[in-house]
Amino acid sequence: MKDLTGKHIVLGLSGGIACYKAAELCRALVKAGTTVQVVMTDAAMQFITPVTMQALSGRPVFSSQWDPREAGGVGNSMAHINLTREADAILVAPASADFMSKLLHGGADDLLSLMCLARPIDKVPLIVAPAMNREMWANPATQRNVAQLKADGIHVLDVGQGDQACGEVGDGRMLEADELLYEVTAFFQPKVLAGQHVVVTAGPTYEAIDPVRGITNLSSGKMGFAIARAAYEAGASVTLVAGPVSLPTPRGVQRVDVKSARNMQLALELHMDNATVFVSAAAVADWRPASSSDQKIKKDGSGQVPTLSFCENPDLLAGIAASERAQNGQLYCVGFAAESHDLLHHAQTKRARKGVPLLVGNIGPATFGQDHNALLLVDETGVVEFPHGDKLSLSRQLVADIARRRAAWVAQADSR
Ligand code: CTP
Repeated sequence: MKDLTGKHIVLGLSGGIACYKAAELCRALVKAGTTVQVVMTDAAMQFITPVTMQALSGRPVFSSQWDPREAGGVGNSMAHINLTREADAILVAPASADFMSKLLHGGADDLLSLMCLARPIDKVPLIVAPAMNREMWANPATQRNVAQLKADGIHVLDVGQGDQACGEVGDGRMLEADELLYEVTAFFQPKVLAGQHVVVTAGPTYEAIDPVRGITNLSSGKMGFAIARAAYEAGASVTLVAGPVSLPTPRGVQRVDVKSARNMQLALELHMDNATVFVSAAAVADWRPASSSDQKIKKDGSGQVPTLSFCENPDLLAGIAASERAQNGQLYCVGFAAESHDLLHHAQTKRARKGVPLLVGNIGPATFGQDHNALLLVDETGVVEFPHGDKLSLSRQLVADIARRRAAWVAQADSR
């Protein structure tokens, strides 16, 4: 199933060069499973034609409050009312400085602003994607408007940074279509972790032998990155401590890159202070070379191979699970187990050994580097299976499950 299947979005365009991105966005929304009804202001039509937006949305575009055509399946010629009654959200992208000011004051002299004002406020959320020159964005008037729009319950998205159509460089660009799709998708996810700070580890660690060689493992980091995204979508502030992987950082997530297990331990010490959930998805190397050479180890031509000896890395998860905050109900810890066989048995013994309330088992060789996985959730009382699925869907399920379990665990800790 696509992420936005069944959703109906009214896509509003106000005037700005970023209207060209709205065309791409419309296409992306339709591809993600939504139906899209486009509404444009006169200013928007200076930048892009309704013909383009009609072709991409597959529906006639509305732009005038005096339009006598039937809108929204009700023949009362009141487009400003009818168009939003079945909508799951109104998304104004681009939202110009002028349009935001109009929204703020309840202005209603064109179809789009009239429709925003007339929407059922509890049923049809309003999302706006600002787009403007950097000076306009930085102007106290705009910043004041943004703050007030947020206080009024309007979901104001971030702006992008970079080259602007006017030739200047700075904040104020509208987000790209894929970023907007990401944010709209996140918007519709249940906010089961609102107010929580989630720390996730992901990927392998790399333990150096010398400056050009080291030992690592096949973890790709995809599962941990998907969990970080799902936690962000669920409303948490998220810190992702990532071993050496080449994956893009999920939007909205703070990423800390590390190499070795000991680097990861230091990063966790720095970022764990006010965490309320810790998900240890990284495949932390169990051992590291007992000594690492500062210079590349050279062959001496004798045919003799070097002997490597190892020492054990600290068990990061077990250490954090034994900490005071985890013991007194402030930090809910979730471990992972990457196994090659006997998953249930290993997951159960590992959960007890690590001292965590929940351990998620998966078959490492079957999932490393893949976009799919299957999970086995093991707690004190039993086992739950999440059957084969893509990593983001599984992560959303897992995050919902963690939120539920954490709430019960905190309540239990409080009653002790
Ligand atoms: N882990 C950790 N620190 C380590 C090793 C593992 O924090 N030094 C965490 C992993 O992030 C994971 C869990 O412990 O959440 C289990 O990791 P796994 O590699 O499956 O198990 P190990 O403890 O390494 O045991 P074994 O290698 O014997 O299966």
